[in-house]
Amino acid sequence: MSKGYILAIDQGTTSSRAILFSETLVPLAIAQKEFKQHFPQPGWVEHDPEDLWATVVSTVNEVLARAGTRAAEVAALGITNQRETTVVWDRKTGKAIHNAIVWQDRRTADICAALKRKGVEKLVSERTGLIVDPYFSGTKIAWILDKVDGARTAAERGDLAFGTVDSFLLWRMTGGKVHATDATNASRSMIYDIEKGAFDAELMEIVGVPRAVLPEVRDSAGLFGATEAHLFGAEIKVCGIAGDQQAAVVGQACFKPGMMKVTYGTGAFALLNVGDKPVQSNNRLLTTVAYQLGGKRTYAFEGAIFVAGAAVQWLRDGLGIIKHASETQGLAEQADPNQNVYLVPAFTGLGAPYWEPDARGVMTGLSRGAGRAEFARAALESVGYQTYDLYQAMRADWPGTGDTTLRVDGGMAASDWTMQFLADVLDAKVDRPEISETTALGAAYLAGYAAGICPAPEEFGRSWRLQKQFTPGMEEDQRRKKLAGWEDAIRRTRSQ
Ligand code: G3P
Repeated sequence: MSKGYILAIDQGTTSSRAILFSETLVPLAIAQKEFKQHFPQPGWVEHDPEDLWATVVSTVNEVLARAGTRAAEVAALGITNQRETTVVWDRKTGKAIHNAIVWQDRRTADICAALKRKGVEKLVSERTGLIVDPYFSGTKIAWILDKVDGARTAAERGDLAFGTVDSFLLWRMTGGKVHATDATNASRSMIYDIEKGAFDAELMEIVGVPRAVLPEVRDSAGLFGATEAHLFGAEIKVCGIAGDQQAAVVGQACFKPGMMKVTYGTGAFALLNVGDKPVQSNNRLLTTVAYQLGGKRTYAFEGAIFVAGAAVQWLRDGLGIIKHASETQGLAEQADPNQNVYLVPAFTGLGAPYWEPDARGVMTGLSRGAGRAEFARAALESVGYQTYDLYQAMRADWPGTGDTTLRVDGGMAASDWTMQFLADVLDAKVDRPEISETTALGAAYLAGYAAGICPAPEEFGRSWRLQKQFTPGMEEDQRRKKLAGWEDAIRRTRSQ
């Protein structure tokens, strides 16, 4: 008899998706809906929490209808989410008191600058593995509590709740019964002690977050609660939660120290499993919780590239030199090999390992002969070079020995040209899996594991299937030259 289907909700930055998996984790059906992005001021990015909620509920219902499945046949639901995006809501009404402040939002830059002046960076990095930056949810919570009339007093009274999107969805789905999150999401708050596995009173005080708003932090796999029956036609058990990049670590089965994955979306996120101790980076990488199972945390180094797929979007929407993203690969193949055009797409500053919010993009090496093809190649190559910078930092920091495996997923991983260039420039093998929906797969696995449907991590890891391996083939001389050109372009970016 079938043990039942597993459902994954992937609530991302630009769309909500619901994916139905079989009990053996074969993707069966998918539904996806985009929602509006709000930009109230330069550098500010918001989502309407009602849009997040409505698109999640409707995509779940749609995917069930599409697959001809009833909610009663779904044995477990896993939630994965855009991380750090912050919602504060009223516990009585369930309504958010402000739009969600999205992870990309820079409005708390001044708060962070003031925290740095107070000299708390060392404390923050030692306890949370993070740097002091508006990216994380802690200062976003403080901003909402200070800017919305009466919010801080209400929060201290216990009338308000904070959650990242996973937690907000869980609260809503369980009809306000469960206010919880998992350790991966908590580890992105700048107030969570990743070694102890608890919110840190001293950091809460420094950042200005009262304990009464915080969710309970649980394992990434475990029974969180049940959805209210009227939402999907029957109760569904929520059995897994993880931030989207961590869910991809699980979906890519990077369970052993030294294994690394990069997910290429609008930006790109590289995570390297460092095992069961939170190793500190000397190269400005973040240390974060990769997953927590059975009360045991596994940690990862993380590096973020802010602009990956967005560089191709810029070619299309900003410059108008392509109509579809898919044209870039063909153009890159036609580019003149004697032209050395570089693009550093630091449109919103540089992420790891540079962390320079004020850097801006540059193009170098332009000659009269440079055209669409060279621009397209430069955009695709920029993704390889940025990954190289992260890879170097991780190799320098990583205490383990031997080869690290690099597994790729996300939109740009589908481009053979880009992945071959990546293997060439890294001088390392790059593995692309058969299932490209690794984020949803990770959430489904966590839920299925908690529900007793899926096997233990080691066995699940053995079911990971390679679709294509890219092996390095570039002459060392040429590689060195190309990297020198990139380093020069980066220098110019930073000196602007
Ligand atoms: O940290 C932000 C990250 O979780 C966003 O991922 O895929 O929604 O852009 P994505």
